[in-house]
Amino acid sequence: MIIAPSVLSADFGNLQRDIEMINSSEADWFHVDVMDGVFVPNISFGFPVLKQIKKHAKKTIDVHLMIVDPQRYIDEFCVQGADIISVHIEACTHLHRAIQQIKSLNIKAGVAINPHTPISALEDIIAEIDLVCLMSVNPGFGGQKFIHNTYKKVSQLKELIIKSNSSALIEIDGGVDFENAALLKQAGADVLVAGNTVFSHPSPPEAIALLKSKTA
Ligand code: DX5
Ligand code: ZN
Repeated sequence: MIIAPSVLSADFGNLQRDIEMINSSEADWFHVDVMDGVFVPNISFGFPVLKQIKKHAKKTIDVHLMIVDPQRYIDEFCVQGADIISVHIEACTHLHRAIQQIKSLNIKAGVAINPHTPISALEDIIAEIDLVCLMSVNPGFGGQKFIHNTYKKVSQLKELIIKSNSSALIEIDGGVDFENAALLKQAGADVLVAGNTVFSHPSPPEAIALLKSKTA
């Protein structure tokens, strides 16, 4: 299982310290949540912060764009260090074009879907993408409660991936904890994002190790 701590829950006053913690932990990726206050009811951070993350991070940088009109900013997120960029299906009128744009930069392309969006909406794009970011909370904030209906969607998505001969990874984003991690693995998840579970733990590296061992 790929474990991707969400930088959104880090201490921004000690960002370098928290990045080094992730570097030296068992975590696999950095999950970076970009919010514009329009697509979601919260504003997080943008290019200058990603640039600082990139300066210190020694692992894959997985950027989750919760912004309207993401095509305007894809190139710059790549320049600032993204290894993977996911755009929301609900924010893209021309999703296929956005995916082509990301792939033309020689980085991985992902599609994120909100809890109300059915898996069937991915049918005609699944073969083109490297990752599906399945939202298991309504995007906008860390520390929310996991939506149970996600399990069903993971199984449906796994089926669609196999049927379509797609190599897309299934990433679960929101409310991942020590209890649901193993169940999500069973259902077919490949990547678990974890914000609150890691950063509110007395020992974040231990929390990461625990998520890893629960999904081994
Ligand atoms: C939510 C973000 C998530 C968030 C997850 O809008 O996309 O990545 O940081 O945080 P937790 O794990 O605390 O739910
Ligand atoms: Zn996210």
